[in-house]
Amino acid sequence: MSKISIELLKGRWIFAVGPLRISIISGKIDVFGWEYKKDDELIIQEFRSAPILALENSKITIQFSEKSYISVSDKPLIPDEWKKFAEECLNKKKKPLKIMVIGSVDTGKTGLVTFLANYFLKKKKKIAVIDADTGQQDIAFPTCIGMGFVEKPITHLSEIEMSDAFFIGRTSPAELFDRVLVGLRFLMKKALENHAEIILLDTTGWVFDLGRELKISKILSTEPDMIALLEAENELYHYEATLKEIARGLNVKIRHLPASPVLRARTREERREIRKRLYLKAFVDAKEISLKLHDLSILYGYIGTGKLTKIDELICEEHPEKIIIFSQKDIEADIIKAIEEKFNKKAIVFNPDELKEILVGLIDKNMHFLGLGIVSNYNPETDEIKIYTRAPQDKIVGLIWGLMKITINGEEKAWLKPWQI
Ligand SMILES: Nc1ncnc2c1ncn2[C@@H]1O[C@H](COP(=O)(O)OP(=O)(O)OP(=O)(O)O)[C@@H](O)[C@H]1O
Ligand SMILES: [Mg+2]
Repeated sequence: MSKISIELLKGRWIFAVGPLRISIISGKIDVFGWEYKKDDELIIQEFRSAPILALENSKITIQFSEKSYISVSDKPLIPDEWKKFAEECLNKKKKPLKIMVIGSVDTGKTGLVTFLANYFLKKKKKIAVIDADTGQQDIAFPTCIGMGFVEKPITHLSEIEMSDAFFIGRTSPAELFDRVLVGLRFLMKKALENHAEIILLDTTGWVFDLGRELKISKILSTEPDMIALLEAENELYHYEATLKEIARGLNVKIRHLPASPVLRARTREERREIRKRLYLKAFVDAKEISLKLHDLSILYGYIGTGKLTKIDELICEEHPEKIIIFSQKDIEADIIKAIEEKFNKKAIVFNPDELKEILVGLIDKNMHFLGLGIVSNYNPETDEIKIYTRAPQDKIVGLIWGLMKITINGEEKAWLKPWQI
């Protein structure tokens, strides 16, 4: 990293792209609604940007790499409407106050949530942030939605420590809307149990087509008091049309806010790289643990919820809908037929090796998220499932089947359909 010193004139806006470490030598600057003064330090991470405003004539030093840059902006990087919105929210006497941010991809939703978090922190509020984006998850891990409390000023949501999470099972919420909605309510409950005064809800950029369905359901199930529609040019008018009459009944105020004038958008590859790093973080110091699959509570999948029976030498799992025959080898058709006739239901042969590398979520008895896991082996003979995880073995009582396979190096490998296993 190289280092430079720069002087900022009062009122100047600087667009800063990480990785950067900024130290304030003199004066005062504002970053996403938080004031930093002499001797304060802040970090802007790789792939991220932040708006800097000199509140006074200031001198700062910046440590940067070849990926970072800064540029002067003539226009304010935090639109005035954002501040007005924050003030309006503060003037609401309602507790808890639920604020949802909706916008298309790369409009600055997470930036607005960051700004609001700092703004309310300044007013000493207890703020919970729920990140409902399963793909670009900032508080928990990809495939999850996460919740955490804002304990200190932040330049990005990923600096918020995860308090709880809900494992959805895949980076895309398509076909899994119910789980996202259940997860949102679950995390809201946890936020309220911990006395959140303000709950900020960050959402995905999927606002058109089927994404409309998820957004509308998110609104109806979380009942926000305020919705910020973050727009480049009124492209979200359809939400207003959807909510125009029922908003009164829901008691929600809808505000149109301008999108971030400039931001550091991420390419698909960068998004994948960010996810990979987060998977790796999820498995730091992970080890292989061994559990009895049928002793666990199993969510969202067949395997582990049926009755284990032995038919001749074959281990089977009986379900109301079907019978699963565990076998690494092919089984002759007449044997399958005999089993189908005996149980009077369809039989399918399933190779337990197919479970290898499936991503799972592990939970304790209060459904508190303990961590991600990767299945390394399942032996139907002993019912022993081996899972690579950092979740504490003695606390695990439940397993949620994921819909992805990933390697322990954080590479996403395969995608499953809901209830495929
Ligand atoms: N007003 C702003 N000035 C400078 N940087 C910003 C601003 N708003 C957001 N950013 C930064 O730009 C990057 C991309 O913006 P952000 O993540 O807020 O967009 P988003 O709409 O949430 O994207 P996604 O659709 O992927 O969720 C982030 O690093 C964010 O901190
Ligand atoms: Mg975002």
